[in-house]
Amino acid sequence: MESYEVVVVGAGLVGEEMVKVLKQRKFPVKNLTILARSARKQIIDGDEYTVLPTSAEAFDGKDIAFFAGTEGEKGASQTFGWEAVKRGCFVIDNGDDFRMDDRVPLVVPEANAEDIASHQGFVSNPNCSTIQMVAALAPLHRKAKMRRVVVSTYQSVSGSGGGAVRELEKQVMEYAEGGVKTVEQYSYQILGNLIPQISSLKDEFPGYYGEEIKMIKETRKIFGVPNLPVSATCVRVPVRRGHSETINVEFEHPITPDEARKLLADEPGIVVIDDPASGKYPMPLDVEDKDETYVGRIRQDPGNPNALDIWVVADNIRKGAATNAVQIAEIAVKNGWLRRN
Ligand SMILES: NC(=O)c1ccc[n+]([C@@H]2O[C@H](COP(=O)([O-])OP(=O)(O)OC[C@H]3O[C@@H](n4cnc5c(N)ncnc54)[C@H](OP(=O)(O)O)[C@@H]3O)[C@@H](O)[C@H]2O)c1
Repeated sequence: MESYEVVVVGAGLVGEEMVKVLKQRKFPVKNLTILARSARKQIIDGDEYTVLPTSAEAFDGKDIAFFAGTEGEKGASQTFGWEAVKRGCFVIDNGDDFRMDDRVPLVVPEANAEDIASHQGFVSNPNCSTIQMVAALAPLHRKAKMRRVVVSTYQSVSGSGGGAVRELEKQVMEYAEGGVKTVEQYSYQILGNLIPQISSLKDEFPGYYGEEIKMIKETRKIFGVPNLPVSATCVRVPVRRGHSETINVEFEHPITPDEARKLLADEPGIVVIDDPASGKYPMPLDVEDKDETYVGRIRQDPGNPNALDIWVVADNIRKGAATNAVQIAEIAVKNGWLRRN
């Protein structure tokens, strides 16, 4: 079996998880290079790795580069993403810098794996909250065609990176010692609170914050339905890891909860836990370190025979980031799509 020169850029929460997922899924890695801003030794999943500073030359001779650095102008993808493509790498990016770029397929394998085939060297992973929603909606959309989606999210602090996880843990300690003092990662204390703001306001959808706009635009791009009505409210909650979502989805054709349950249970990558009478439904603590998307609370909307309400939970660092990226690489390798057309 052929094996590959693999680079992981970024050694924070997602970068570390990427290294773990590559190992656990036995991705055919010939050599693994880990790049970040600063050089150091770092223990990941019990093994010590050498982390090197990122440079354009570091991508020479490499086959696949997973980008998990911070976003924006000085971030890894904007600085090195297309440079890595120029130097022959197949790039899979976790950030939002190029998700809406026409050159870049935006892929959730459960929904649009075939889009990988048209890549120009660069594929983007959607936003974590988009990935789990799209994974759960894909089999239902194939059957009954979506007409409208309304989603509310309950997103863990790990979605903001390692610094936010450490701050929640610190706030717990400070609370136990008499009062929370450290509030740096968010505008407000997150312990014992909910913050209905993720990212900043944007002009294109007045009143919506950035994360909500990502969910709207990315969902439309992935399903190839440019005007699909999607509305999102994204909320940060004091959960360490795992994002949860309530989704109300209306279809062109009626679909019963039993049909939906069966379609979802038959879908690889989806686990249905749906026994409300015995209080069984997925929760963030259950999905930590899991690659699947979990669905429960599948109900008919009492006010609309063509609509369902569902509850979706996934590990935002695994399926919401590292796992989805590695799955894209697995599909590219399996289908001979690694090299550009
Ligand atoms: N957390 C999630 O749930 C999640 C889900 C989906 C997507 N994402 C995306 O994945 C990316 C990484 O998120 P994270 O949670 O892992 O963040 P993080 O814990 O803050 O780690 C960021 C990493 O990026 C490295 N980095 C930053 N700028 C860089 C540059 N210019 N060149 C090279 N490396 C650079 C940092 O290097 P140093 O360690 O040397 O400082 C650090 O290792 C972000 O784009 C994020 O939006 C995150």
